[in-house]
Amino acid sequence: MNQTRRDFIKKSTALGVSSLLPFNKKFFKMNAKIRTAHIGVGGMGLNDLKAISSHKNVLVTALCDVDSDLLNQAHKLFPKAKMFKDYRILLNNLENEIDAVVISTPDHTHGPASIMAMKKGKAIYCQKPLTNNIIDAREMSKISFEKRLVTQMGIQVHSFYDYKLAKLLIQEDLVGKIHTVRAWSPKNWGFDGKLSKKEDKIPDNLDWNLWCGTSPYKNYLENKYHQYNWRKMVGYGCGTLGDMGVHIFDTPYNALELDVPESVINECRKPNGIGFPEKNKVSYVFPGTKFTTKKLKWVWEDGKGAPYSNNDLKLPNGDKLPQQGAMFIGKKGRLLLPHFMEIPKIIIDNKYQFLDTSKFEEKELLEKNPARDYEKESLLHYHEFIDACLNKKECSAPFTYSSKLTETILLGVVAGRFPGEKLNWDKTKGQFIEEKANQFLKQNNRSF
Ligand SMILES: NC(=O)c1ccc[n+]([C@@H]2O[C@H](COP(=O)([O-])OP(=O)(O)OC[C@H]3O[C@@H](n4cnc5c(N)ncnc54)[C@H](O)[C@@H]3O)[C@@H](O)[C@H]2O)c1
Repeated sequence: MNQTRRDFIKKSTALGVSSLLPFNKKFFKMNAKIRTAHIGVGGMGLNDLKAISSHKNVLVTALCDVDSDLLNQAHKLFPKAKMFKDYRILLNNLENEIDAVVISTPDHTHGPASIMAMKKGKAIYCQKPLTNNIIDAREMSKISFEKRLVTQMGIQVHSFYDYKLAKLLIQEDLVGKIHTVRAWSPKNWGFDGKLSKKEDKIPDNLDWNLWCGTSPYKNYLENKYHQYNWRKMVGYGCGTLGDMGVHIFDTPYNALELDVPESVINECRKPNGIGFPEKNKVSYVFPGTKFTTKKLKWVWEDGKGAPYSNNDLKLPNGDKLPQQGAMFIGKKGRLLLPHFMEIPKIIIDNKYQFLDTSKFEEKELLEKNPARDYEKESLLHYHEFIDACLNKKECSAPFTYSSKLTETILLGVVAGRFPGEKLNWDKTKGQFIEEKANQFLKQNNRSF
């Protein structure tokens, strides 16, 4: 018979275990129903809702959105779930009725909503990037660690076969120690234009004040923020680095077991205080690890035309580069990881090498290649989170990992405020050596 968390706590209290214990993997029962609350249920949030709820141990308990049309659309799928438009009211009112919170809002609300829910001991599935500012990323990691909470950043490719295979090939030394990573996306989540000074009418279905949340309150402009386009805007998203970069950085970052970088330069246009640059070339230097040379160079290019041609990116037979991806350049050869749903390619002496994955599968280092189906592979990542809540698995992208990946991305975003200037990062202090850049580590915390 299924058991809710409350039943479990009642029993644990009878056994002398404090009911004040935070919900964490140590104390949670394996056959329980995980009662979920979903904050942001339009756009990606609707996918997240469907994916999480496809796990048989999930009971969708609450839905929250600042757009009543999107909230009603999700509610049709789960008519028994309670509805909210303010996540603070949801978390306060249902504190004892939910176990896990799924956060799929625009990036600027990830931190405030996650931190509030984590302080209440909830497990969190938060969309990528973890947040739009470095101070919140560090705080999220710290709370999750101290409270031993189950956490997962929503970055499904982390659980995909191709990405696990690329990690294994790098770590098995097939291309030697890596000295450079090049990663690229021609997508543009920047905005070089100007905004109208006139305010558009706020739609009746949208609570614009709640949408802005802790970020600055701006004039409402149709199609500039809600939905999707907030990615382009300073104070809300993190540009193309925060959108595609976080996906494409994930495997090299994970495979090379990197820490945060020690320096960063972003060659882009001057900041305009409105949108992120439409084109960025970001160069990082990382301290070496056992999979890299003494230092690792990492170059990211985004926007129209990216990546600009470079010998490191020339393919055998004059083949065309995949539209988006990463190239690991090692002492023996190169590994190309297209983004996404393609097997990595090993290139040595400018020739593709035959890749026999069966030996890894035989040694059970890698699960067998599943059906090449995006939906099925994505579900693994969501279900891993629920299984971790049930104490059956560990999450592969917990906040202790994903906060560092996010910090790395955000260092490149902050460097965009100082085009062409090298900024040096002191990871112990969590500050730039260049004092002027430290004002961009935190977002303003507006009361709303
Ligand atoms: N992992 C992936 O593959 C993937 C893909 C797309 C988006 N994302 C991430 O998902 C998140 C959402 O992106 P999107 O494209 O769906 O954006 P969106 O603007 O389309 O949707 C955001 C949703 O959150 C709601 N919302 C906004 N503020 C809210 C608040 N304070 N409380 C409750 N609801 C609120 C909006 O009304 C909307 O329903 C982002 O962090 C994005 O990076 C991840």
